[in-house]
Amino acid sequence: MDSSALTARKSIPDIVASADGGEAPLRKSLGPVSITAMGIGAIIGAGIFVLTGTAAAQYAGPALMLSFVLGGIACAFVGLCYAELAALIPVSGSSYTYTYATLGELAAWIIGWDLILEYAMGAATVAVGWSGYVGSLLGGFGLHLPATLTQATGTVVHLADGREARALLNLPAALIVLALTALLVLGTRESSRLNNIMVAVKLAIVLAFILVGAAYVSPAHWQPFLPANTGEFGHFGWSGVLRGAGVVFFAFIGFDAISTAAQEAKSPQRDMPIGILASLAICTLLYVLVAAVLTGLVPYAQLDVADPIAKGVDAMGLPWLSGLIKIGAVAGLTTVILVLLYGQSRIFLTISRDGLLPPAFSRIHPRWRTPWISQIVIGSIVALIAAVLPIGILGEMVSIGTLFAFVMVCGAVLYLRRHAPRMDRPFRAPGVPVVPVLGIGFSLLLMAGLPFDTWLRLVVWMAAGLAIYAFYGRRHSLLRQEGRAAPGR
Ligand code: ALA
Repeated sequence: MDSSALTARKSIPDIVASADGGEAPLRKSLGPVSITAMGIGAIIGAGIFVLTGTAAAQYAGPALMLSFVLGGIACAFVGLCYAELAALIPVSGSSYTYTYATLGELAAWIIGWDLILEYAMGAATVAVGWSGYVGSLLGGFGLHLPATLTQATGTVVHLADGREARALLNLPAALIVLALTALLVLGTRESSRLNNIMVAVKLAIVLAFILVGAAYVSPAHWQPFLPANTGEFGHFGWSGVLRGAGVVFFAFIGFDAISTAAQEAKSPQRDMPIGILASLAICTLLYVLVAAVLTGLVPYAQLDVADPIAKGVDAMGLPWLSGLIKIGAVAGLTTVILVLLYGQSRIFLTISRDGLLPPAFSRIHPRWRTPWISQIVIGSIVALIAAVLPIGILGEMVSIGTLFAFVMVCGAVLYLRRHAPRMDRPFRAPGVPVVPVLGIGFSLLLMAGLPFDTWLRLVVWMAAGLAIYAFYGRRHSLLRQEGRAAPGR
């Protein structure tokens, strides 16, 4: 690989000016409320509805509240950096674009490839969680889906007659991905409207849980608040709070997805920072309150279940609320899948316009004004992954991929402040360089807590990405064809 791949860099004014080029521009239909709703839509999901219970029962106990505070603080540092870059470079490519303007084409491609882990794999992960909640909701009505059609391929399941069998595929997970893909192909405004409604349902359910649940809390369950460490790192005590933060980090993923909507925002310079910071702040507050109420309702050791929030409601003795919570969870998980699928197609659109992916990924449908071919390709692949892979492997890949992108985004803020100090920044992250440096530090800390196998998978994934760049992107890069290698100012 020659050195120009490392140094070719796009100038920011060029990026912004050319973003709306192409045969049919994206429709600018999103205001600050829709954008914040989009953020909340992407954030509150499997993390709070599914993973909270495990984190409390196995790692942190009632101090899970602190894990959420820690996760929120870590994401706030990164969120401030995203806000600065999303306002400065309001283009759909998110951290891919920011990297292109700072560290150059090869690093940008690496991040673009890495973001597939966050968005496409993230959508698949949440789809698997969605399938679990739908199964439990239908079970409440006496409708039982065949076990062989609701688990990852090869998972050992117990049939109704007591025999063991291997699951074929997770059919509901694949079907929800395909259905949402169809919606996204038909229009951003329509998808955004449905998203707003479902976000409202999800928020109502979370608030109901907090407000009704608060009346049933028995403070005795909060004692001991920080259960003593068992002698093993990460199992209770302060190291448990840290491990808990690593697990519930998944619950915060998604605030950055807002930045992929920059080209469809009516006023991106103002709305991007508002959307990112408001959605992050609202979700952190809700998470801490949910953790407080949940661990006050049920002894933490009993929370290691697939639907911990529903278990919390059961402890209140209100069965009607339990059903509503499950419906809210299903709606909530749906919006996460929707926003992640949307974000993935917008990132591909930007990469394709740069020539690093085939032009089909940036083709916009003349009537629907959406990148329909890309959306269909993504939807089909995500549906397949959701059908065959288990949630554990998927979730860890999503976390490591996202954290890697976070490191690059904080690095890009540092780089641009140094190399292009006089650019007009509609939003300036406060406390630079401390804030981005802390963002990098926290992200690396959380990455370090992930298993070795996950690191190995990341390396293999990145190697595959490099091979694609060597055989395709390098030859088709528009920037390199034009022979421009402008500094980022
Ligand atoms: N934050 C999203 C969730 O928890 C990814 O489902």
